[in-house]
Amino acid sequence: MKELIQAFCDVFGPSGQEERIREAIGEQLAGVVDELRADRLGNLIAIKRPTGNGSVGRSRSPSVEHSDCGRFGKRVMLAAHMDEIGVMVTHVDAQGFCRFTTVGGVLPNALIGSRVHFANGVEGAFGLEGAPLPRNAVIADKMFLDVGATAKEDAQVQVGDTAVFRSGFGAVGDRLFAPNLDNRIGCAVLVQTLRELANTPHEIHAVFTVQEEVGARGATTAGYGLAPDIILAIDVTATGDFPQATPMEVALGNGPAIKVMDRYMIAHPGVRRWLVNTAQVYDVPYQMEVLEFGSTDAAAVQISRAGVPAGAVSIPCRYIHTPSQVIDYNDVRNAVRLLVNALSGTGDSADLTAWSADK
Ligand code: CO
Ligand code: ZN
Repeated sequence: MKELIQAFCDVFGPSGQEERIREAIGEQLAGVVDELRADRLGNLIAIKRPTGNGSVGRSRSPSVEHSDCGRFGKRVMLAAHMDEIGVMVTHVDAQGFCRFTTVGGVLPNALIGSRVHFANGVEGAFGLEGAPLPRNAVIADKMFLDVGATAKEDAQVQVGDTAVFRSGFGAVGDRLFAPNLDNRIGCAVLVQTLRELANTPHEIHAVFTVQEEVGARGATTAGYGLAPDIILAIDVTATGDFPQATPMEVALGNGPAIKVMDRYMIAHPGVRRWLVNTAQVYDVPYQMEVLEFGSTDAAAVQISRAGVPAGAVSIPCRYIHTPSQVIDYNDVRNAVRLLVNALSGTGDSADLTAWSADK
């Protein structure tokens, strides 16, 4: 699976420009799912129909009564966002220096010394007005991008072009490094889950969403359109396991994190219990996540239509939204195990009918 992760991390794809990563993910899903399509906003929707035991293997149109995918079957939406944060050119000056704005939660402190690249391969280095190194707090307004031009005419980028962090994928044992593990790691976990999920009573709608980093926009429309019974996001979460970190229980290597709450969502207790029970029954290490900042696609879908029971499986990740994010591969493998076992729906503990509001 490390190759899959690297393959996704190596693809350019800021919010609003997800074509390349959508294509890369689509290629990996050929023959794995029953249906694959992109929607109007660019979300990639992969459908796996229910198999076996009392379920009916046909797809339903959205917003009809959810009664035909088997006694235990639910329409489960799994969301992993494809986009990554970046910077967008707002102005190119006479010398060819570019002013920029941020696309998503880019931390200005993380920019000094980092490099970005554009869709056409042009490189950009961040410069700071006045001094090469910051003496005070770094403000994006005082920064510019040097894109190797000497005049506006010869700048190979223009207003509206977006760049992403250039630092590549790397590994030290099971610790993986990349600028966009948020959320290419979630995409890889979702692809691998679909590959390993042999049987399910559920109708699985795996959605690789666009524009999460600018406000979960892809998940908002996909969630409305698909009208799922349950939404699970697969994304990264922060950790409290480095020097003087903000206290937080989550640590690299202790297993996938089952979300309790983040800034914009409180997980449905039934969904949470379903995941915890699955982890316990199948002996998957896990940790409970309370994230005091940030959120996921699940928050947008939770409040769609009349409300959708929501939860999330998170991959612990250090230094989120910086050019050097770090995860532990064992958490990735265990996230896949947790999801595959939960969605296989074998065993009482994974019986979603026990809590579902619409049964
Ligand atoms: Co993010
Ligand atoms: Zn994310």
